Amino acid sequence: MKISIQLPRPPSRDYDITIGPLPEIKIDGKAAIITNPKVSGLHLKNLLGAVSAKELYIVTIPDGESYKTMDTIEWVLDRLFDHRLDRKSTLIAFGGGVIGDMTGFAASIFERGIDFIQVPTTLLSQVDASVGGKTGINNRFGKNLVGAFHQPRAVYIDTEWLKTLPKREFAAGVAEIVKMAVMFDAPFFEWLETHDLYDDANLEEAIARSVALKAKVVNEDEKEKGVRAVLNYGHTFAHVIENFSGYGNLLHGEAVAIGMVMANDLAIEYGFFSEEEAERVRKLLKRYDLPTEYRIEDAEAFYDQFFLDKKSHDGQITFIVPEKIGKWHMLVDPDKERVVKVLKKWQAKGEGGER
Ligand SMILES: NC(=O)c1ccc[n+]([C@@H]2O[C@H](COP(=O)([O-])OP(=O)(O)OC[C@H]3O[C@@H](n4cnc5c(N)ncnc54)[C@H](O)[C@@H]3O)[C@@H](O)[C@H]2O)c1
Ligand SMILES: [Zn+2]
Repeated sequence: MKISIQLPRPPSRDYDITIGPLPEIKIDGKAAIITNPKVSGLHLKNLLGAVSAKELYIVTIPDGESYKTMDTIEWVLDRLFDHRLDRKSTLIAFGGGVIGDMTGFAASIFERGIDFIQVPTTLLSQVDASVGGKTGINNRFGKNLVGAFHQPRAVYIDTEWLKTLPKREFAAGVAEIVKMAVMFDAPFFEWLETHDLYDDANLEEAIARSVALKAKVVNEDEKEKGVRAVLNYGHTFAHVIENFSGYGNLLHGEAVAIGMVMANDLAIEYGFFSEEEAERVRKLLKRYDLPTEYRIEDAEAFYDQFFLDKKSHDGQITFIVPEKIGKWHMLVDPDKERVVKVLKKWQAKGEGGER
């Protein structure tokens, strides 16, 4: 299965996302696979069976979000120079979103930019991080604050890698699939309600449909000047939750699941999303054991955190909320009182806690 990304110009930046068994990857110049010990231990042999290049190197970086830093990038670049890679060389990202974001960023700056290929191995990176060309790292000011738009040359999505993925990591990817369906595609949402993603064929179809939706958004708005912002549904809340609960306790997709339920509450407060539809979203998330409960300690403090988000401009925040399943709405600069009212429901011990 193939889904095309067709960027307006220059046309040479178009690329294909191939969903299905990993095909042979033939690279003319030199190449380096960037991976981590976990993914390489589980799957590198299979990848090596498919890749050929003039010279092929493997660069292994430690596993984890905490290594998604400029220091690691420097270290990777040094290895690329050690191996005498050049402007015609290609990097291959082999891992989850952390590896994908870092490999893409290294590729965007190595000798002013070289090609890279995405071979995502987590569900989240297959449906989200590997598609669309956002690359980058974290620093002490926050997540993904430094980076570049650098589109891959190709993305190869093979569900075979996911067999070794822990259940929680799998569910975190499902949250981003649910996000796409709620925002853009009611029939897909209904399909998700009736199909089990633990089944291989269903999973592959869900990935394809989700990636197709993301591809369409990226084709329309590569640099997030408009509709791409809709992909932040649940994320404005999730980023605050992640800040408060400390990275590592909740997976990103888990925070997004809670964030979507909060965004739905806000939409209900504004009167354009129904309790019934919100319940359907919650039920779907619960089916994959995603969290939909969270206790806000202090609604005011939680509210203040929104303004630290890099996506808040001039003291304004925009919440992406559903109008109905399959239809998004941008709630620009809503009244503080109404937002805090919603947050307070999550603060009250009984109420928020029993959701
Ligand atoms: N660029 C984008 O558009 C975009 C979009 C969403 C998320 N992201 C980024 O992606 C990152 C999160 O990605 P993630 O959820 O894939 O996390 P991750 O890359 O940290 O992977 C999660 C864990 O699963 C392990 N793993 C990977 N593949 C595996 C496999 N097949 N079997 C067993 N274990 C495996 C990893 O080593 C890691 O320990 C964040 O840094 C986030 O900022 C980027
Ligand atoms: Zn996300």
